[in-house]
Amino acid sequence: MCVAQAYFARVNRITIAVDGFSSCGKSTLAKQLAGHLGYTYIDSGAMYRAVALYVMENGLVKDGKLDREGLLRVMDGIDIRFQHDPLANKSVTTLNGRNVEERIRSMEVSNHVTLVSPVPEVRAKLVKLQQAFGREKGVVMDGRDIGTVVFPDAEVKLYMTARPEVRAQRRYQELKGKGAEVEYASVLENIRQRDLDDTTRKADPLTKAPDAFEIDNSDITAEEQFVKALDIVLEVLARVGQE
Ligand code: DC
Repeated sequence: MCVAQAYFARVNRITIAVDGFSSCGKSTLAKQLAGHLGYTYIDSGAMYRAVALYVMENGLVKDGKLDREGLLRVMDGIDIRFQHDPLANKSVTTLNGRNVEERIRSMEVSNHVTLVSPVPEVRAKLVKLQQAFGREKGVVMDGRDIGTVVFPDAEVKLYMTARPEVRAQRRYQELKGKGAEVEYASVLENIRQRDLDDTTRKADPLTKAPDAFEIDNSDITAEEQFVKALDIVLEVLARVGQE
């Protein structure tokens, strides 16, 4: 990106929504874009994961079922934020003041998150928070409903896809790299289940916004994907600059 483009991005701050299936490389792309443009990156999935961790830790899951009424009673007491961790030099998710960044990435949390993500009251609370994070613009947010529900007026909407087997392989390698004891088959199963849950839930299901640009990254590298996405963003920024 040249100096003039970087200047444009800072003066004409826009909102970039990155939606798509799980383990599609959304966060990698969103972080790259935010880093290049000097924007704030927000991981909306981390917020759903934090609520899942909360219900797991507070006895609100019994025999694999969510105690929905119990959750609704304590919802106001669930405080989710993103804070800068000076030691790691990165933003981390906090749940009621505790750094839960590592914990929310576990398979256990991944398996519980679809208990809480379809609950309309959970979505309403988190969407409100997400909209507040984006009020100042200059934000790149990734999730499932960012371009459709959270920021329907986002200037750039990207919709990411990749074949489930490709996503499972990437996720499996990532988990293995962290020393987790996992089987490829269970990772693939988890991805298929989450795809189904994400696209069929009643509240804010994953759908492609009509004005979103679709990027299938099954057969391209992260770098190629970034170049594609940055081209789209720069084109929009040039247009916004002329308005
Ligand atoms: O992006 P992720 O895999 O970390 O998201 C975790 C879960 O949260 C996933 O199962 C879908 C859900 N989610 C959602 O329902 N809406 C969002 N905006 C982001 C994530």
